[in-house]
Amino acid sequence: MSGRIVTVFGASGFLGRHTVRALAKAGWRIRAACRYPQLAEFLRTAGMVGQVQPFHADVTNAAEVRTALRGADAVVNLVGTMQGGLTGKRFDAINAGGAGIVARAAAEAGVGQLVHVGALGARAESASHYARSKAAGEQAVRDAFPGATVIRPSILFGPEDAFFNRLANLVRYVPVVPMIGADSRFQPAFVGDVAAAILACLERRDDDGAAFELGGPGVYTMRQLMELVIATVMRRRLLLPVPSFAARLAAYPMLLVPGAPITPDQVTLLGEDNVVTPGTDGFGALGIHPESVEAILPTYLWRFRRTGQFETAAHT
Ligand SMILES: NC(=O)c1ccc[n+]([C@@H]2O[C@H](COP(=O)([O-])OP(=O)(O)OC[C@H]3O[C@@H](n4cnc5c(N)ncnc54)[C@H](OP(=O)(O)O)[C@@H]3O)[C@@H](O)[C@H]2O)c1
Repeated sequence: MSGRIVTVFGASGFLGRHTVRALAKAGWRIRAACRYPQLAEFLRTAGMVGQVQPFHADVTNAAEVRTALRGADAVVNLVGTMQGGLTGKRFDAINAGGAGIVARAAAEAGVGQLVHVGALGARAESASHYARSKAAGEQAVRDAFPGATVIRPSILFGPEDAFFNRLANLVRYVPVVPMIGADSRFQPAFVGDVAAAILACLERRDDDGAAFELGGPGVYTMRQLMELVIATVMRRRLLLPVPSFAARLAAYPMLLVPGAPITPDQVTLLGEDNVVTPGTDGFGALGIHPESVEAILPTYLWRFRRTGQFETAAHT
């Protein structure tokens, strides 16, 4: 172990667990901060005994954030939510407010490095409240900690992802699959590559305020991604394009469901392209060759095939 301490906010999430694993392997001592550390005990096995410590901190609580940063050499903030609640207040409190609280506390504590995880498509003028709140979060980080490194990933894929797993699960049950934002373009990034990018940002040890846009090797329309999932789980399904106004209308009642599979704001997001800006630094600048969706999806979506891992054998 290097002895260097990094506080990772959002460590128990999808990107968080992969990031903790990558940092632990590289020898960092990790304070794995999240709201429910009792549910993050599984992270301990990512490192040696005592190397990873689940820690309670809510990013909307400045005192808890300051405690989580005590003695840290670096901080990674990957807290974010896609669930804004009825009014979107949660977006502002967590994605924007929380990002500012972490950055200000890190600056005050004299933490050497801050890596902040934003999102591709985060723009102050976006129609999506999520995207606007992520843009405000990035601005708050820049204001408080100008030397922070910001990474902006496109949609993430990997074993525990929400998007591809949910879609593959839906494909199991319905003969006709609704499709929102058929022609919007996406550049999915493998979660393991984004975790490697976060490690690379920490190891650069630069405080030059760099930003990296992280997209995988391929650009796909939503229709192409859905066709890929259907082919991967070896089913025959029809795709039914749903106009965004109808999808948004159908998604409104979902606002009352905690952890809803789709919200009106997500419908808005799906209507916008989510690809890296040409000419910006990305995986290449960090020395990472990103994996493709074609290579990775079959490694975890096989469980949605009719006979699971034996499906390929059954067809040969
Ligand atoms: N997933 C994607 O496709 C994608 C794409 C682009 C950008 N991103 C960005 O990448 C980051 C990570 O995304 P993810 O998919 O890994 O999200 P996730 O699975 O939902 O994880 C979110 C993490 O944040 C923690 N958290 C939530 N509210 C918190 C709060 N108030 N205080 C402290 N911790 C809190 C959660 O733990 P507890 O609930 O235990 O607190 C969890 O560890 C986010 O910033 C997201 O905007 C994700």
